Amino acid sequence: MASREQFSSNTGFVMAAAGSAIGLGNIWGFPTQTASNGGAAFVLAYFVLAFCLAYPALMAELIIGRHARANVVTALRGISTGPATYKLGSFVGYYGVIVASLILSFYAIIAGWMLTYLLESVTTMLGWVEAGLWLTEFGFERNLISMAVFMLLTMAIIAKGVAGGIEKWSTRLMPMLLVLLLVLIVYVLMQEGAAEGLRVYLLPDISQISPGLIVSAMGQAFFSLSLGVGTMLIYGSYLGEKESLPKLGAAVTLVDAGIAFIAGLLIIPAIYVAKQYGADIFTDSGDLIAGPDLIFQVLPVLFDSMGGVGLWVAFAFFLLMSIASLTSSISMLEVPVSLAAEETSASRFQATLLIGSVIFIFSTVILMNFDSLFGFVIDLTTVYSQPLLGVVMCLFVGWIWHRNNLLQEIQKGHADIEKTLFWKIWPAYVKFFCPVLILTAFIQSVI
Ligand code: PHE
Repeated sequence: MASREQFSSNTGFVMAAAGSAIGLGNIWGFPTQTASNGGAAFVLAYFVLAFCLAYPALMAELIIGRHARANVVTALRGISTGPATYKLGSFVGYYGVIVASLILSFYAIIAGWMLTYLLESVTTMLGWVEAGLWLTEFGFERNLISMAVFMLLTMAIIAKGVAGGIEKWSTRLMPMLLVLLLVLIVYVLMQEGAAEGLRVYLLPDISQISPGLIVSAMGQAFFSLSLGVGTMLIYGSYLGEKESLPKLGAAVTLVDAGIAFIAGLLIIPAIYVAKQYGADIFTDSGDLIAGPDLIFQVLPVLFDSMGGVGLWVAFAFFLLMSIASLTSSISMLEVPVSLAAEETSASRFQATLLIGSVIFIFSTVILMNFDSLFGFVIDLTTVYSQPLLGVVMCLFVGWIWHRNNLLQEIQKGHADIEKTLFWKIWPAYVKFFCPVLILTAFIQSVI
C-alpha cells in the first residue's frame, strides 16, 4: 500500500483545519445569528460554548482520527470493543458521511451565490448591465450554474490530495482572507453609524440569554468548528505523531472564534452604516435583518455608498466569501472521498468524480424544490445531526475507548500530558459533561 499522505507541517494543518472551520458559518452565520439573537449577549454565549463545549468535542475527533489514520467509518470501527460498538461505529460513521455530503449540497448553493456576486462586481465595472442583472436575480439557471462551478472548484482541489491540494490552497487562501477582512473593517469603522453597531455588538444585555439563545449558540459553535461529521477526524488522521493535539486543537478553536469575532466587527457595524444610507435594517417583527437579505441587500447599499471604490470593495468582499467557502467545502468533500478511496478500489480521482457528481445531483434536487428542501436540509444537518453526532464522538472517546489507549495516543507529541490540567479535566469532561449538555440542548431544540 502506498504510504498515507500527511500534512507537511504544523502550520499546514492549522491552516487547513482553520480553513475548514472558517467559512460561511463565521462570516455569514455568526453575524447573522448575533443580529437575530439580541447582539452581544449571543456573542458572549457563543464564546463560552466554543471553548467549553466545542473545543473538547473537537479534541475527541482529532484524537480518534490521528489514532486510526483512516476515514471516519474505519476509525470508529477501529476503537470499538465488540460487535455492538462496532455496529454503532459503522452506523455513526456512515451517518456522518451522509451528513457531510448533505451539508456540501446546500453549502455549494450559497457559495455559488457568492461567486455570482463576485462576478457581478466585475461585469458592472465593465458596464455589462444585463449580465449583472442575470447574476444577481434569483433564478434556477443562475443557481444551478453557479453551484456547478463551485462544485467543480472543490472537486479540482480534492482530486489533488492532502499536501498538494488541501494544504497548499488553504495556506495560500487563509492569510488573504484575514487581510481582506481587516481592510474592510477599517473602512467600515470610519463611517458614520458604525459606533451604534459596535455598541449592539459589544455591550451584552445579559437578560437576553435564554435557553433558545443557548441552543442557537451551540449549533453555531458546532457548525463553525466543522464538528460531528468526521471532517476534523479525517484532518486529524493526516497529522504526524510529533504534534501536540491539545495545542493544535486550541489554536484552531482560537482562530475560528477569532475570525467569527472579527467578521461580526465588520458586519454588524456595516448594517448600521447602511442604515445611514437608507437601507431597511429591521425585519417586520422588529429584529435586525439577517441571512441572505443582510448579505445581498444591506451590504450592497453600503458598497454603493462608497462611489467608485465601492465596486472594488464589493469585489473584495465576495472574493473573501468565496475563498472562505472553498476551504470549507473541500473539507466536507474529503469526508466521503477518503472513505471511498480507502475502502474501495477506486482511485482518489475517480472517487472525487463520482461523489462530486452525486452531491451535484443532491444540490440540483434542492434547487428544483427550493422552498421545501433548502431550509429543511439545513436544519436536518446542522441543527439536529451535527450536535447529535458530536455527542456520539464524545461517547466513543469517554466510554468505549480504553482510557490507557487514549492516554497513549494523546501522549504522542505531548509527553508530559498526564501532568497537565487538560488531562485532569478533559476525559471526565467528554464522558459526562459534554453529552449531558449537548443532549439537553438537543432535546430542547427538538421540542
Ligand atoms: N465550519 C464551516 C463553516 O463555518 C462549515 C462546515 C461544516 C465545514 C461541517 C465542514 C463540515 O462554514
